[in-house]
Amino acid sequence: MSIGTTATTPEAATTSRPDSGPGPVPALTVENLTVRFSGLVALDDLSFTVAPGTIHALIGPNGAGKSTCFNVISGVYRATAGAVRYADKDLTRLAPHRIAQLGVARTFQNIVLTHGTVADNLMLGRHRLTRAGFTASALRLPHTVREQRRHRERAAEIADFLGLGPAFDKPVGGLAYGDRKRVEMARALCMEPRLLLLDEPVAGMHPTERSAMAETIARVRDALNISILIVEHDMGLIMRIADSVTVLDFGRLIADGPPERIQNDPAVISAYLGTPVQDTEPEPESATATDTSADTAEATVPDTERDSEETS
Ligand SMILES: Nc1ncnc2c1ncn2[C@@H]1O[C@H](COP(=O)(O)OP(=O)(O)O)[C@@H](O)[C@H]1O
Ligand SMILES: [Mg+2]
Repeated sequence: MSIGTTATTPEAATTSRPDSGPGPVPALTVENLTVRFSGLVALDDLSFTVAPGTIHALIGPNGAGKSTCFNVISGVYRATAGAVRYADKDLTRLAPHRIAQLGVARTFQNIVLTHGTVADNLMLGRHRLTRAGFTASALRLPHTVREQRRHRERAAEIADFLGLGPAFDKPVGGLAYGDRKRVEMARALCMEPRLLLLDEPVAGMHPTERSAMAETIARVRDALNISILIVEHDMGLIMRIADSVTVLDFGRLIADGPPERIQNDPAVISAYLGTPVQDTEPEPESATATDTSADTAEATVPDTERDSEETS
């Protein structure tokens, strides 16, 4: 099954999705990024590049600055100094909706969708690409009906690709936890991004759900040729699917490179409290639909670019 229309090599990756902008998938370059919160330096002169068409992992202990970095890239936080370059633009100067228009979509770490059907949630993701105005939509003019049908077909295609086909018209509230996380990812993909930011996409999942999700993320990269920046604590998953890894500790970059090298880097091992970086699946965490831990707090579809993890 395919949802992509692009070539198979990153070099040749021109998108035929006009909504996301013409030309090849751009690199994302974080340049000397510093973020201070009063006295605290959350990011300290951080630089790294997400190459087009790759899965790039951002890892590090709690409080290392990973979410802050995501929040700056998606326009939620302002940088104190430095730049984030993408498609000839400095994202640190743009509002979240402008960044989304450039083809940057993100998922939210703490979200568990509860409202509407899978289709409803995915159509929200299509909203950015909808041309018909409110009045035309309300009047159900023929061209808007056609446009809506086209968007629904594309949403169904993306749902199928993520294994959500049979659930398309079902309420998200009744789905298993892992499937709801998949809906969240499908919603972001419905924006036809060229850069997808995934914030802990397998948090709270069972090992089998984790493996399946890892395989899905790799398939998304391969089929769509988009770049994926992923924050994830599951080292086994990172080592399996990441093309490149950036490691933060106390806001500073301590290592950057291919996963094999990162895994054996002394600074990385020491940042993880002397524990060798695991390449096996961690123990299962609780993962039920009614779990109310921090990773699975109930939330509706976000209508702002702000997530709830900053408060944790
Ligand atoms: N909005 C904020 N106000 C004040 N401090 C913050 C804010 N967001 C993050 N921080 C602080 O910045 C540091 C990095 O946090 P964060 O980026 O959430 O780390 P990580 O995602 O790697 O666990 C932490 O010390 C955190 O308390
Ligand atoms: Mg975080």
